[in-house]
Order: sequence, then C-alpha cells, then structure tokens
Amino acid sequence: MKKKVFVAREVFDEASSLLEAHFEVQSNQADTVLDAEALAGALADKDGALVALTERIDAPLLARCPRLRAVCNIAVGFDNIDLAACTAHGVMATNTPGVLDDTTADFAWTLILATARRLTEAERYLRDGRWQRWQLKQLLGLDVHHATLGIVGMGRIGQAVARRALGFDMQVLYHDPNPVAPEVEAACRARRVTLDELLARADIVSLHVPYSAHTQHLIGAREIALMRPSAILVNTARGGVVDDEALVQALRAGRIGGAGLDVFEREPALHPGFLELANVVLAPHIASASARTRLRMAMLAAENLVAALSTGQPPNLLNADVRRG
Ligand code: GLV
Repeated sequence: MKKKVFVAREVFDEASSLLEAHFEVQSNQADTVLDAEALAGALADKDGALVALTERIDAPLLARCPRLRAVCNIAVGFDNIDLAACTAHGVMATNTPGVLDDTTADFAWTLILATARRLTEAERYLRDGRWQRWQLKQLLGLDVHHATLGIVGMGRIGQAVARRALGFDMQVLYHDPNPVAPEVEAACRARRVTLDELLARADIVSLHVPYSAHTQHLIGAREIALMRPSAILVNTARGGVVDDEALVQALRAGRIGGAGLDVFEREPALHPGFLELANVVLAPHIASASARTRLRMAMLAAENLVAALSTGQPPNLLNADVRRG
C-alpha cells in the first residue's frame, strides 16, 4: 500500500508529479494557510508532509499525528519547525539549503540599491504626477560604490552578498560567531568584526542570520542607535531578527537613513508605521522568488520527502538524531 502524504501549500506540477509517483497525495489546492486544527486534521492519517514557513510544526500538532515520519519544509529557514519535538516524535525534518543562495543574494542587492537610491520613493513621485522639473538636489541618495557593507551572518547567503560587493569596490565587514575560512575572507575581501563595530562603521547593514531565540531582536533600539545617521538596514533574513517597532521609531526620527525589508515580525501583517515612511522599500517575502529557484526549492523538498519515506536518508535532514523508519 502506498504511503500517504499531505502537501500543505500549492506547489509546481513537477513536484506534485514526483510525489504522486510514490505516494497517495492529498493537496491543499486552494493554497489557503491552514490553522493548527485544520493542519492536524489533514496530517492525522499521513506518513509525510510538504510544508512551508506558514505551517507551524510543534509538539501539540505532532501529538495528534501518530503516523507522521517526515516533514519537509519548502524553505531554507526552519524556525516554523520545532526540531526537538520532531525528534521526540520520530519525525524527520528537512529544509532546502543551497538552491536559493544566489537568488536571495540578488534580492538583498535589489533592496540595497533600491533603498540607497530611493527608487520606490522616486517612482511614487512620478506616478503621483509630482515631477515638474529636473533639480540638482532632487531625491539625493547614498552612494553604494566604495561604501562600507556590513554583513551580519556570513553563511552561504551572506558570502554570496559579499562576493557581489566586489563589483562595487566596497569595503566588507562581517559579523558571525564563527569566522569563515581565510580563503573565503580573502575572496570576498571581508574582515570579521564585532556586531557593535559593524553597526558603527557600515553604510549598509545586511542581515543574513536564521531566526532563533538567540537572534530574536538582534537588531533593536540599542543596535540601531549605533548605526550611522545615513546608514541603511536591509533584512532578507527573517522577521523578528529586527525589532520592527524600534526600527519604525528610528526611521521616523531620522536616526538612520532608510531600510529595505522583505520580512516582518508579524507578516503578512505590517507594522503600520512602515507604510507611512518614505525611506523604506518594502517587499512581501520574495527574496527567493525567481521562477527557477522556487521550482528548485519545491523539487528539493519533494525529493527529501521521497527519500525520507523510502530510505530514511533524506539529503537535507535537520535532526540527524531522529529515530528513523
Ligand atoms: C525563505 O524565507 C526561506 O527560508 O527559504
């Protein structure tokens, strides 16, 4: 008898076909975000699940899903999954590392440039019919070339952002609990500093840390106060790494120059303050959203699910200490 899996959000046909070749598949075709009750109902008789960051996989849910053996996230971040609870319930958890690094780094740069050069503010000005004449002092921005870029979190994505800075002749500082290999530092021309030094010296601060209890509000009022008055903050990592209320207050008071944000503390809800501010570029969590990369993410998640339920050896297992089989 085929094992049963649940696909919690809409995926590409290629991923559905792969799963259908191996399993009896139930899919949330409507692509609604299921609440905990509906998700528990859907998973109660399933062996595996393909989920996204919109699905919270925690102990109360797992207690209601006795057959579940694998939860495969369509994301590299996995703060929606309680790994310890998965391990306790014998559930393998996987993510999608590697396939989205360059696409996410491209988007961090999209936000860096758009924020520094006030692109969305300028476009609104045009669309509102306010452009009367060319002016020397109109919409003056921040030079990105030869500026200092501060990268918080020098993992795969942070390094990809740093490599792109070479083309802008930037000085790169990074902060990470673990130094990267000397050859990586040399290739990116990056130097490791403390977080406080990075914040004080960088013209542009770009965040690339996972969300966890340790990184909750890593950038709050104290950290923002250390930044240069002209500096910009870019977050393509996770909401909650930045204290949104503190950021809104700092932007309102002109304590920093601007922010480029793809992720938010209570997304999809936004802090209303962001909508009133001109010096913020906002995006709806799309840093990995190129057609090719989102397909690769969905396929990798599906491949993880197939491997987890067939061999117990998914390529991107997060909780290696889990009891398998
Ligand atoms: C997206 O946010 C991801 O973690 O892949």
